[in-house]
Amino acid sequence: MLYKLTEEQDMIWTMVRDFSREVVAVKAAERDKTKEFPIDNLNQMAELGLMGMMVPPEYGGSGSDTISYVLALSEIAYSCASTAVVMSVHNSIVCESILKYGTEEQKKKFLKPLAAGKYIGAFALTEPQAGSDPTLQKMTAVKDGDYYILNGTKRFITTGENCGLAIVTAKTDKSQKHKGISAFLVEKGTPGFTVGRREEKLGLCASDTTDLIFEDCKVTAANLLGKEGAGFKISMTGLDGGRIGIAAQSIGVAKAAFDASVQYAKEREQFGKRIADFQGIQWIFADMKVDIEAASQLMFSVAAAKDRGERYTTQASIAKLFASEMVNRVTAKAIQIFGGYGFTKEYPVERFYRDARVFTIYEGTSEIQRVVISRDILKDK
Ligand code: CAA
Repeated sequence: MLYKLTEEQDMIWTMVRDFSREVVAVKAAERDKTKEFPIDNLNQMAELGLMGMMVPPEYGGSGSDTISYVLALSEIAYSCASTAVVMSVHNSIVCESILKYGTEEQKKKFLKPLAAGKYIGAFALTEPQAGSDPTLQKMTAVKDGDYYILNGTKRFITTGENCGLAIVTAKTDKSQKHKGISAFLVEKGTPGFTVGRREEKLGLCASDTTDLIFEDCKVTAANLLGKEGAGFKISMTGLDGGRIGIAAQSIGVAKAAFDASVQYAKEREQFGKRIADFQGIQWIFADMKVDIEAASQLMFSVAAAKDRGERYTTQASIAKLFASEMVNRVTAKAIQIFGGYGFTKEYPVERFYRDARVFTIYEGTSEIQRVVISRDILKDK
């Protein structure tokens, strides 16, 4: 650990590491096959305060800082990346956006059940034709007295099927690009809000990714998050935090792949000695270690910047870009070290490799992170 933790951060880290390895790890491989949603993990995580980690105690949360949060999230990802992505979207985007932009009434109404794990949060920005460019969204919200009528389809929504509450963006002014987008808090069960197709995926198989369909869905104006037209900014600031979460997930999965590989290399013998005794393998470990430590430094640095209240958009993109690319390198090397066994389901490294693949894609592709970083480099100061 290169970052000096406080006693409280260290305590949270240890508590989540023990829980993750004793509880979450047990069913992770099976879940990958059955695609069973990890509600059992999430319920226990709520009891441990992990579903409202950065929510202040007055709204039922744990009031932890971002450093503690990334430590906890990476430990959950170490055992089960499917569970970690649910935790990440729920905490980093949903809870944080309500905390930052919600009215007092919205905070009181929604943060408590979110922190208690009664509602799992989803974030619905993407549409079939609007991925990297969310301004292309077609979903509409038309004001009708004290309500908005929502119509449209959202795609690739993490926890779409299992969420209790979704932050949903829609155009309130079709003539505008980003300034015409607004954000709404929509509860599952609202008439006109249904779940569409569930994606069959390469990895993160126990986390559901679905379409959300809105047909004349009537949402009270009291559930408008922030001002009309603020939905794009709310989404971008939510994604700033979300990208720190993806860095943490990446580091958790990379550490799991690294630890499994080191253990295997110490046991596996070829040519009369442990494969760990070959310099070719040792140097792969050295490179994996450097990659993980570098990503961890970036993660801690951006988490600390967020805790200090600084603007951290670019730092979040840097950490997300590096960590998500890093875990793809590390998990590929892990499979190489395991040889033929690495390609089978007998060992966990093929799951790590599949789970990590989406990290360079969701919450902004690597290319989008480079857009954010390069715009900051070239902007007139
Ligand atoms: N924080 C606050 N405001 C921001 C911001 C940020 N990080 N980024 C942009 N803005 C503001 C700008 O200041 C600007 O405001 P003004 O109009 O007041 O000047 C406004 O937003 C528009 O900004 P841009 O002109 O930079 O917008 P753009 O259309 O060029 O897009 C982008 C910028 C960075 C490429 C953005 O579109 C983007 O991040 N795209 C990727 C979308 C994405 O990550 N999707 C992931 C889906 S969600 C998901 O994966 C979750 C899941 O379930 C796992």
